[in-house]
Amino acid sequence: MGRLARPVQLGFVSRRFVVECLADPSSGDTLAEDARRGLFSSPKTLPPKHLYDAEGGRIFEEICRLPEYYPTRTETALLTSLAPDFVAALRPECLVELGSGSSTKTRILLDSLGSLGGPAQYVAVDLDEAMLRQSAEDLAQRYPWLSVRALVADFEAPLAGLPRGPGTLVAFLGGTVGNLEGPEAHRVLSGLAAAAGPGASLLLGVDRIKDPQRIAAAYDDAQGVTARFNLNLLNVLNRRLGADFDPRDFRHLAFYDRGTEQVEMHLVARRALEVRLRALDLTARFAAGESLRTEISRKFSQASARALVEGAGWSLRRIFSPPSEDFSLVWAVADGLHGRPRSVNPLAAGEAFP
Ligand code: SAH
Ligand code: TRP
Repeated sequence: MGRLARPVQLGFVSRRFVVECLADPSSGDTLAEDARRGLFSSPKTLPPKHLYDAEGGRIFEEICRLPEYYPTRTETALLTSLAPDFVAALRPECLVELGSGSSTKTRILLDSLGSLGGPAQYVAVDLDEAMLRQSAEDLAQRYPWLSVRALVADFEAPLAGLPRGPGTLVAFLGGTVGNLEGPEAHRVLSGLAAAAGPGASLLLGVDRIKDPQRIAAAYDDAQGVTARFNLNLLNVLNRRLGADFDPRDFRHLAFYDRGTEQVEMHLVARRALEVRLRALDLTARFAAGESLRTEISRKFSQASARALVEGAGWSLRRIFSPPSEDFSLVWAVADGLHGRPRSVNPLAAGEAFP
């Protein structure tokens, strides 16, 4: 991956709203590289970030409204109940959000921030430029006291130039951290602790281990919306790499693996086939029944959620959960002691905020 160069400005909409991109817009784009590796290995895999082109972003919004997809509703309700006290206690000057998407949940935090008065900054980081532009512009209009920086960037690349210290709150919602493999999640969270600096807070959404059937249904809905989302990846490959995938040759497969505590989403070839990737000058081959893994979504216990943040330079403060324990928000503070043992004082999950 290319180094994150100084962001260049793409456009001002107003003095309070700026969209920035990597100096070299292609430096954060790893599709060609990922396809060259992932479509020619066994098993075949691609990282989930490529699912979110403009169409993918729209379908994801549909997923969030599905009856089977409990994470969005649960996290939204949890955030609504804790935001007023949490924001009043923290009084952040800057809210940074990774994978902000439509920034719908962000509004809950901003509503609380707004009622405290005073100017604040919001830095939204997402790869889906269309979604990012729209949501950042909406927020700048809705909150006149807010200055909005929309950063079209890969959060897996180093994020330089973030506001640092106790005035910074980093939100990473939606269980998106669970879409990263263990080592990548560790790298992103460690880099974030270093970039946001000691005293900065993290609010991390994690989906919890629960009834396997409920988890599986959330990724294989009756209306086939998730299947459409998954298959859209083939359109992304066709458009961006000049590939000639026929989506009708593949079926959506999603299952929860209790052993690894993760959902896996695959595209399974219905027959043996060859796909030409013109931009790479390569031909990929699928055997009948061979699958391409397009996503994982890891589920956490309190213990594994705690280990995730504490292993990456953050001290756990609270794990907020609703009575159902279906989804949790983990609050942690960057300790500046990454790599060294430290003692922490975790509080019980589900405990009300003081
Ligand atoms: N935070 C929202 C959206 C979650 S969907 C919510 O909770 O509902 C995940 C979002 O992360 C998408 O908008 C996707 O474009 C973005 N995303 C995924 N991988 C990314 C990456 N590597 N870098 C930047 N954004 C990424
Ligand atoms: N972060 C979401 C999750 O893990 C992303 C997601 C939901 C997703 N449904 C999906 C990604 C279906 C791919 C396919 O729940």
